[in-house]
Amino acid sequence: MTLEEQVSLLAGADFWTTVAIPRLGIPAIKVSDGPNGARGGGSLVGGVKAASFPVGIALGASWNPSLVEKIGGALAEEARSKGASVLLAPTVNIQRSAVNGRNFECYSEDPCVTATLATAYIEGLRNGGVGATIKHFVGNESEIQRTTMSSDVDDRALREIYLPPFEAAVKTAGVFAVMSSYNRLNGTFTSEHKALLRDLLKDEWGFSGIVMSDWFGSHSTAPTVEAGLDLEMPGPTRDRGDKLVAAVRAGEVAADRVREAARRVLTLIERVGGFDTPDIPAERAIDKPEHRALIRRAGAEAIVLLKNDGILPLDLAGQTIAAIGPNAEAAQIMGGGSAQLNPHYAVSPADGLRVLTSENQLRTAPGVTANRLMPLISGPFEVDVYGRPDLTGPVVEHQSHPLGEVMWFNEVAPGVADAEFSLRATTRFTPSETAEHVFGLVSIGPSRLIVDGRTVVDIRKDWAPGDNYFECGNREVRGTIALEAGRTVDVVVEYRFVQAITLNLKAIRVGVAVPLGDKAFADAVELARASDIAIVYAGRSGEWDTEGNDLPGIALPGRQDELIAAIAAVNPRTVVVLQTGGPVAMPWLDKVGAVVEAWYPGQEAGNAIADVLTGVAEPGGRLAQTFPRSIDHTPVETGDPSTYPGRDGHVVYREGVFVGYRHYDKAGIEPLFPFGHGLSYTSFDWQAPSVDKPVFDGEGTITVRVRVTNNGARSGSEVVQLYVAPPTSRVDRPVKELRAFAKLLLAPGETVEATMLLSPRAFSYFDVERNAFVAEKGRYRLIAAASAAAAKGSVDIELTREIVEVVSARLRH
Ligand code: BGC
Repeated sequence: MTLEEQVSLLAGADFWTTVAIPRLGIPAIKVSDGPNGARGGGSLVGGVKAASFPVGIALGASWNPSLVEKIGGALAEEARSKGASVLLAPTVNIQRSAVNGRNFECYSEDPCVTATLATAYIEGLRNGGVGATIKHFVGNESEIQRTTMSSDVDDRALREIYLPPFEAAVKTAGVFAVMSSYNRLNGTFTSEHKALLRDLLKDEWGFSGIVMSDWFGSHSTAPTVEAGLDLEMPGPTRDRGDKLVAAVRAGEVAADRVREAARRVLTLIERVGGFDTPDIPAERAIDKPEHRALIRRAGAEAIVLLKNDGILPLDLAGQTIAAIGPNAEAAQIMGGGSAQLNPHYAVSPADGLRVLTSENQLRTAPGVTANRLMPLISGPFEVDVYGRPDLTGPVVEHQSHPLGEVMWFNEVAPGVADAEFSLRATTRFTPSETAEHVFGLVSIGPSRLIVDGRTVVDIRKDWAPGDNYFECGNREVRGTIALEAGRTVDVVVEYRFVQAITLNLKAIRVGVAVPLGDKAFADAVELARASDIAIVYAGRSGEWDTEGNDLPGIALPGRQDELIAAIAAVNPRTVVVLQTGGPVAMPWLDKVGAVVEAWYPGQEAGNAIADVLTGVAEPGGRLAQTFPRSIDHTPVETGDPSTYPGRDGHVVYREGVFVGYRHYDKAGIEPLFPFGHGLSYTSFDWQAPSVDKPVFDGEGTITVRVRVTNNGARSGSEVVQLYVAPPTSRVDRPVKELRAFAKLLLAPGETVEATMLLSPRAFSYFDVERNAFVAEKGRYRLIAAASAAAAKGSVDIELTREIVEVVSARLRH
C-alpha cells in the first residue's frame, strides 16, 4: 500500500462508512448507532424502520448478562439489516450524577454491573458477526459543554470506577473498536491522549482493535495519530488525508504509526467479514416476531417494582381503570440523540391495557403535560431550497420531508454550500379546536415561523445555540396565535445556516399545541375518583433524557407531582408507573399504593408494562443507580460548580471513587431507594453465603455460594448481590463494593444456588504511588445482599498476604 492509500483508511468516507481501495480489493464497511437498536445511515429522524430495544439503564436494571447477550445477538441482525457490520455501542460511561442527559444510555453507577453487562452485549454482537464499539473512552459523564469540557479525574477513580468496563471489554470480550470521547481528560482531548490510547489501551491492555473518534471529536493531525487514534469519524477527513501525508513526509508523524493504524483498520474489516461480502447492501426493515418477544421480555425484566402495598399485581376482572398522565397514551420507548431511531411501532401503556380490557373498563385522561418542547407538528414539510442565503434567486431543489422536524447531516442540497443556502419549508395545519395555539421553533441557525401569514416567532436576529440538537440548536422560542377549529392554515419556516457549529448538522423543528389547563387536570382527578383503580403514567421522555443536554433536576417535569398527589387523594388504589432515564424525586411516595419504574423499554413498552402490572411477568428489575431523596444528596451536586456542572472548562471528579452507593454509604445518607433495590411478587429465604477458601493466599479465585429459596406461591426472580467490605486500610476505601452478582429465576418452592467468583482484584484498591492494584493483607467481609441496604448474610475471609498487581500506564500527567 502506498502511504496515500494507508492514510486514506484512517478517516471515514462519509458519515457512516470507511474508505474503500478498489485497486487492492479493500472494501468499505459501515457503522451504525447504537446502542438500543441499529438506526442505519441518514438522519436521526425518519430513517428506515428498526427494532427499538430497551435503553442502557433498563438493561442495567435487568442485572441479566444472558438476556443482554441475547439482545446483542438480535442487534447483530438489526445492524446487518442496515448494512452495518459495526455497531456504535455499548455506552458504558458511569452514572456519576443524577442529571446527565445520557444517563439513560448508560447501565449503572457501578463498574461491576456495567462491565459484566457490556461484556455480554459485546459477545452477543460478535457471535452474530458484528463488531461493537464501546464508548465513550473516557470521562464523558455529562453533556455540558460536551465537546470541550475537561473531566479532571485522578488515577485511582479512573482505575477503580471509570475504566473497568473498558478494560473488561478489551480483556474479556475482545472488543473490536473503542470510541474516544468528546471531552478532554485532565486537560487533553481523549482523541489525542497518548497515555490513554497508546500506553493504557493498546500497550497495557493489549487492545488489538481500532480507536475511532466520536463524531467530529478529532481536532488535530499529528497528535491524534501519534496518540493512537486510528480512525477519524465521520468523513470526509478534516485532519488527515493530504495533511497527514505531509506530516509523515515532514517527519512529524512516524510512518510506522500510520502503517499500524491502517493495519488495525484492515484487521477490523477482516474481523467483521468485510472481505467476504464486500458490498454494503441497501437498508431494510426486518420486524421479526422473535425480536418483538425478546424486547417484551427484556422490558419486563428491567422494570423495577419500587414500592407495593399489595395492590400489585392487578386483577383487572370487573374493575374500572383510569389510565392517567402524560405518558398513558404516549409511548415513551427511547431517549433522545444519536441513540434514537425510527421504530417499527411503539405500544403505549394505554394500548398495552386496551388489549386486556373491554371498552367500558378503561378510560384515559392526560391531566397534565410533561413535554420540554411543544409537541411536534405532524408535517409533512415541503421544502424549497435556494442557492443564496436570503431566499432570493431560483429554487435549486424542492424536497418533501415526512415529519414536522427536518434534519440534514450533509449539505442541504447537492452542490449548495452550507454558508450559501436558505430555505422555505411549508406544512399545513388544521386545528381541532378554536383556541389560542402555542407554536415552538427550534433551528440550527437563524429562522422565523409564519402561521397563516403572520410571523409568530422570529429568531433571525437573536438566534443563538442553546439546549437542543447537541448544543447546536436554540432554546425553543414560542409564540401564540388564535386559530379556528377546522380552518387549515399554512405554517412556514424560513431558515438559513451559520457556520461555527461543531457538528455539521442543519435542522428545523416546529411544535404546536393548545396548552392543557386546569380543566384537564380536574377531569383527570374526576376520572380517578370514579374508577376502581387509578394508574398514573408519569415521567419524562427523550426530550428530557437526551444526548446534548443535561436535565435541570430530578423533579418530575410540569405539574406531574401535583397530579399524582391529587389522584392519590381521591383514589386509595393508585399505582404510579414512572418512565425516566434516571432518578426522580417522589414527594407523593407515601400516598400511593405502588410505584414501578419502567425506564424506556423499547417498542413493546406498553405490553411489557402491562405484563408486569397484571403479573403475567415478574418485575425483574433492580436499580443499578441509587435514587436519592434530593438532588443535593448526590456526590457531585455539592453546591460547588467545579464538581458539577464544571467551572472554567473543567469538571473536577473530586468525589474520587465515592460514586453512587459508595458515596451514600460513606456520607451516611439514606437514599430514597438504594442501589440494587427492587421488589418481587414472591418472597425469598436466603441462606448465609459459604466460601471454598476462608483463608486465601491470592492464588486463583474464591468461589462464593448463596442458596436462595422461593417461599411464595408464584415464580419470581431475585438478584444475589455480593459486596466486599475491606479491613481498615491505609487509604480511604468504600464501606463495601459490589464485586459479583447472579440473577436467579425460581419456581415456587424451588431452591437455587448462586455461584460467584472473586479474583484478587475484588479485594484491591488502586495505589497511585505504586501504580498498582493492591489487596492488603487482612480480614474481608463478603456480604450477600438484596440491595446495597439489605444485607442477607455474610462470611469473612482472611487474605494471608498483600497482593500487588503493578500496571504500566500512568494517566495523569
Ligand atoms: C455521539 C456518539 C454517536 C455519534 C454518531 C455522537 O454525537 O456522542 O455516541 O455514536 O454521534 O452518531
